[in-house]
Amino acid sequence: MQGNLSIRDLHVAIEDRLILKGVNLELGRGQSHALMGPYGSGKSTLANVLMGNPFYQVVKGEVLYNEEDLLAMAPDERARKGLFIAFQYPVAIPGVTMASFLRTAVSGRRGYEKELMPIAEFQKQLKAKLAIAQLDMSIVGRYVNEGFSGGEKKRAEILQMAMLEPEFAIMDETDSGLDIDGVRIVSEGINKLFEDAKGNMGILLITHYSRILHYIKPTQVHVIHDGRVVVSGGPELAEELEQVGYEKIKEQHEVISSEVEEVGAVRRAGKVFWVQH
Ligand SMILES: Nc1ncnc2c1ncn2[C@@H]1O[C@H](COP(=O)(O)OP(=O)(O)OP(=O)(O)O)[C@@H](O)[C@H]1O
Ligand SMILES: [Mg+2]
Repeated sequence: MQGNLSIRDLHVAIEDRLILKGVNLELGRGQSHALMGPYGSGKSTLANVLMGNPFYQVVKGEVLYNEEDLLAMAPDERARKGLFIAFQYPVAIPGVTMASFLRTAVSGRRGYEKELMPIAEFQKQLKAKLAIAQLDMSIVGRYVNEGFSGGEKKRAEILQMAMLEPEFAIMDETDSGLDIDGVRIVSEGINKLFEDAKGNMGILLITHYSRILHYIKPTQVHVIHDGRVVVSGGPELAEELEQVGYEKIKEQHEVISSEVEEVGAVRRAGKVFWVQH
């Protein structure tokens, strides 16, 4: 079955340096996938491109989201259509409270065009979702991510995800900077949302470490190295990586690294795409 996110031969550059060099991933409906890989291998670059960050230039390849051309959609359209990304480094938005941020985002996602979702309904949902993220009401009066501890930031992302009920969620290092309890709380939150969605939500979990995968069992694990997915396998691949490290992966990479690496050559060889806004 075709995935609700199909990434095909994706090449992405930053200022003429090729970062993603032909990523292929088929992320099926209702499945959870883990993307692992060493520092600087291109994991966050992929997350940024999927959300439409214009800094990252798509030079070749395509991404289909529910069979539609994702790269042609503006970032807000992607969000309205249920794509959600929890970034590795969530930014603070001084002056904007969590309550107002969430109400605006949720209203967009639920199809309210000009007005916002009624306050009573919003508060009812908020109460239920705060419990999932294990946060209390005091967080919603604070400015988005301003002065949040590492753990609060990650839980605030879970709250946002719970409110938005995404169709596809990309979590970039949601486990980083968390203590053991934090990893458990965040994982339980993700698992609950995934189960509640009853097969209607896909997940791409980006991580360095297999520890979060002790709580969240992925359908498949993919390993990215130097801008390419070099190995895919079942959950046991994460355990194997823990033992052998990424060195073994690098050996496998040698086999396929003889391709074109220069952006100009990629542009000449293939169709050129730029993220449109
Ligand atoms: N905004 C940016 N400006 C300049 N270079 C960037 C930017 N974003 C990514 N890069 C470069 O692209 C490469 C891939 O970075 P990326 O952040 O995608 O790696 P990653 O796999 O997420 O690493 P980590 O595990 O450390 O989070 C790196 O060499 C990085 O320096
Ligand atoms: Mg990263």
